[in-house]
Amino acid sequence: MRQPLVAGNWKMNGSRASIAELLGGLKAGIGQVTTAEVAVCAPAIYLADTRAQLDGTPVAWGGQDVSVHASGAYTGEIAGPMLADFGCRFVIIGHSERRAYHGESDQTVAEKFTAAQAAGLVPILCVGETLEEREQGITEQVVARQLDAVIAHCGLDAVGEGVIAYEPVWAIGTGKTATPEQAQEVHAFIRGRLAAVADKVRVLYGGSMNPKNAAELLAQADIDGGLIGGASLKADDFLAVCSAANR
Ligand code: 13P
Repeated sequence: MRQPLVAGNWKMNGSRASIAELLGGLKAGIGQVTTAEVAVCAPAIYLADTRAQLDGTPVAWGGQDVSVHASGAYTGEIAGPMLADFGCRFVIIGHSERRAYHGESDQTVAEKFTAAQAAGLVPILCVGETLEEREQGITEQVVARQLDAVIAHCGLDAVGEGVIAYEPVWAIGTGKTATPEQAQEVHAFIRGRLAAVADKVRVLYGGSMNPKNAAELLAQADIDGGLIGGASLKADDFLAVCSAANR
């Protein structure tokens, strides 16, 4: 039985004040979440504040990206050991926004997956197709290519220690959610690809998941939780999504 995981991806949003308010609301309501593991992935500069507020609570925290290097002359980068130093449990790897706007290749993403695990972090590996790719009927090919690059570089056992997030690019921030059936189909494909570690790997759905559609998505056999963007910026909405995982 896989414990559901609901992780918030704040992306490049927030201020010290708004994050203090958000985390205050989250702490006040977290008791209503009985089943899911809950985490928030904060902009790196707010990790110290996030840690100060969440230490000792059931809510974990993480980063949104990690360098392939452990230290050195890489101006602007954040290393895995630095995230670990601030108590991060998770780090998002290969988000479509990083692939699209920062030119991250499948190979770079695979190297980041290894760097995260070397620092003791749990990578949340994002995969997913664009609208054009879905319309061309190559969703499974794209997702397979993204997954296989990480499996080839890190090995299947290492992938088994991580978390996968299926995030169809066309559903991110657009209000267009994949239907539960569309999402389930790709989740089942992903799990099939993970062969021997399939039973233990959590596969999250991400893309306009919100309090209205969360229950239906989370009811699917191969959807083990969510990676939540916009709806993770309001404590009540995020808590409602987390609670939808209660069994
Ligand atoms: P939205 O929930 O805002 O669509 O974002 C999803 C996402 O990209 C999470 O990583």
